[in-house]
Amino acid sequence: MAPSHKTILIGISGGIAAYKVAELVSRLKKKGYQVEVIMTESARQLVAPLTFSTLSGRPVRTEMFHEIVTEHVEVEHISMADRADLMVIVPATANIIGKAANGIADDLLSTVIMAASCPVMYFPAMNTRMWEHPVLQENITKLRSLGYEVIDPDSGFLACGTSGKGRLGSIDSIEAKILETLEKQDRQTLAGKTVLVSAGPTREPVDPVRYLTNRSSGKMGYAIAAAASKRGAEVVLVSGPVSLSVPTGVKRISVETALEMQAAMAEQMDQADIVIMAAAVADYRVAKPATEKIKKDDEEMSLNLVKNPDILSALGARKGQRIVVGFAAETNDLKANALSKLKKKNLNMIVANDVTQAGAGFDVDTNIAVIYRDNGSSREIPLTSKEALAEIILDEIECNDKEDER
Ligand code: PMT
Repeated sequence: MAPSHKTILIGISGGIAAYKVAELVSRLKKKGYQVEVIMTESARQLVAPLTFSTLSGRPVRTEMFHEIVTEHVEVEHISMADRADLMVIVPATANIIGKAANGIADDLLSTVIMAASCPVMYFPAMNTRMWEHPVLQENITKLRSLGYEVIDPDSGFLACGTSGKGRLGSIDSIEAKILETLEKQDRQTLAGKTVLVSAGPTREPVDPVRYLTNRSSGKMGYAIAAAASKRGAEVVLVSGPVSLSVPTGVKRISVETALEMQAAMAEQMDQADIVIMAAAVADYRVAKPATEKIKKDDEEMSLNLVKNPDILSALGARKGQRIVVGFAAETNDLKANALSKLKKKNLNMIVANDVTQAGAGFDVDTNIAVIYRDNGSSREIPLTSKEALAEIILDEIECNDKEDER
């Protein structure tokens, strides 16, 4: 998409580095982007809004409420959020970071951040002691876990006369990061590929009203399907029973049991270039589910279970030129168990998550993972949103694909 069709919303909060943002606005505007600026009350104490309206060619927004003088009435904080392809908070003070991390929306900037559905990037700048404060660091961790990008500040001479970490990164580096993010939004790197993803739990019937299952919500697999579709792939999502809506452009095949999932995956495998198995398949099923509701007459009862097929192993065995990726849900010996599954199931890559860690694994919006590849390399992913992890997994797959082509 041409730069003129992209809108970058710059949020300036009240740090002394606010004056440096004039150069950034000027450069982005010269590159052809639409640039809109919101300033907080404190930022306006440091630099005049006129500077930014002159450079951006648009009025600078500062107030949440102002008199409506036109016939066309817009809810401004929502329309600004809707127009933006990228929102950049620069400089991001401890105050705006704290507000965003804790859901406080008490002025235009913090309200637009909450209303934004585009990526939001923070470039913090502050005194070293403030940067190192545990509350600030906790807020940053929270923002990152929610999928926001927070770029660490540089070290150097600070406006307060001391030296240390907290200096706003160079305008060159901020501009490069912004351009990289905008370019990524347009990339259709998986165009022409078919990606087969599994997600969610399986349900193994005990009788007509009961079943055995697990705590998978499907969020991890759905995030991967959505991300692959955005990169231009044809995506087929084989999903166990979950309460998530189908991501745009994705074809969903709904299944319940492991045997149904196995059949659907096996059938879709032929058309797939990339297979990603994020589902939590029940390892056992009830040998003979009762046809009528089991009565609770006895003090004890036992279920005879038989082993379900290992769907991923079967896919791995006939993978040919495809890239096959598995997950490993572990509670101990993460590395050893994951590497053993990588080899046994003939995978290109395995995403290992220690499901005992807070914020990782089942039924949460975030994950913590280590990606092991069959070439011996590994990549640790600290706490991040499942959406961000999905992007990283696809980056690793694309990287694997390029290496194979060489
Ligand atoms: O759905 P969420 O709430 O977002 O949670 C995400 C998740 C924890 C389910 C996901 O991150 C994850 O770890 N999925 C794999 C769960 C699992 O079954 O792991 P496993 O280590 O038991 O199995 C290893 C691999 O073999 C997995 O890719 C699994 O899909 C596959 N498998 C397992 C058993 C089986 N019978 N057939 C399989 O194909």
